[in-house]
Amino acid sequence: MTDPVSNRTQTPDTNAASPKLEWRDGDMPYSTAFGDHFYCQTDGRLECGHVFLAGNGLPARWAGQERFLIGELGFGTGLNFCETWRQWRQHGEAGAQLHFMSFELYPMQAEEIDRALSRWPEIDAERRALVAAWPQDPRGVVSLALDARTRLTVVCGPAIDGVSQAAAGFDAWYLDGFAPSRNADMWSPDLMQRLYDKTAPGGSFATYAAAGFVRRNLQAAGFTVERRKGFAGKREMLCGIRQA
Ligand SMILES: C[S@@+](CC[C@H](N)C(=O)[O-])C[C@H]1O[C@@H](n2cnc3c(N)ncnc32)[C@H](O)[C@@H]1O
Repeated sequence: MTDPVSNRTQTPDTNAASPKLEWRDGDMPYSTAFGDHFYCQTDGRLECGHVFLAGNGLPARWAGQERFLIGELGFGTGLNFCETWRQWRQHGEAGAQLHFMSFELYPMQAEEIDRALSRWPEIDAERRALVAAWPQDPRGVVSLALDARTRLTVVCGPAIDGVSQAAAGFDAWYLDGFAPSRNADMWSPDLMQRLYDKTAPGGSFATYAAAGFVRRNLQAAGFTVERRKGFAGKREMLCGIRQA
């Protein structure tokens, strides 16, 4: 896989046509293909902070880092990216580089991203910048230098392919591939092994998922797995590390 740095860079790979989204409660996207919401109905932005940022020890782990690479399974609306970017702007070291690389089978259209994220005024600036830079026909590798300290790459296609081709060195993973019961592909032993292999020593993962088979797949891959309290009344979530 190339590692382009310019805005709106695309490779000619094709990508499956996006299944139609349904909108519930106004601006809440729902995937009829997977039978699941894109984030929790309570508050997806706060869920992101609890599960993906805190579960990976962020923003504290950014201290003293010159560069930090986050991988995400499932870009969806870009909510996790925008909330992470917002926090990076506040807490990242001056001059440090954040690279957020997400793997997405069905990239959304800019209008869909805009509609979904408009409910959060807190990430207004990030939403506007993302939507303005987002290509009209996202496919292949979309790489956006969004500001001097932040790069977003969305690798379109099945995550198993994208992760396999990515260079190693991920510091943190957001595992966000719909509920495991509805999308086992995003939680398979094979994919979890490839994630582990691409994780830097001391790197981490976090997910809202708590299913036994997900925990076992992550442990079998080599991660040390911890159960924590989930978001908004969810009993458990998982996070863990690749030992240094
Ligand atoms: C729960 S949503 C992700 C939400 C997202 N992180 C956000 O901030 O809005 C799950 C995403 O995984 C994508 N997906 C499902 N199966 C996939 C696969 N096999 N490979 C890559 N992406 C997949 C879906 O298209 C969907 O966008």
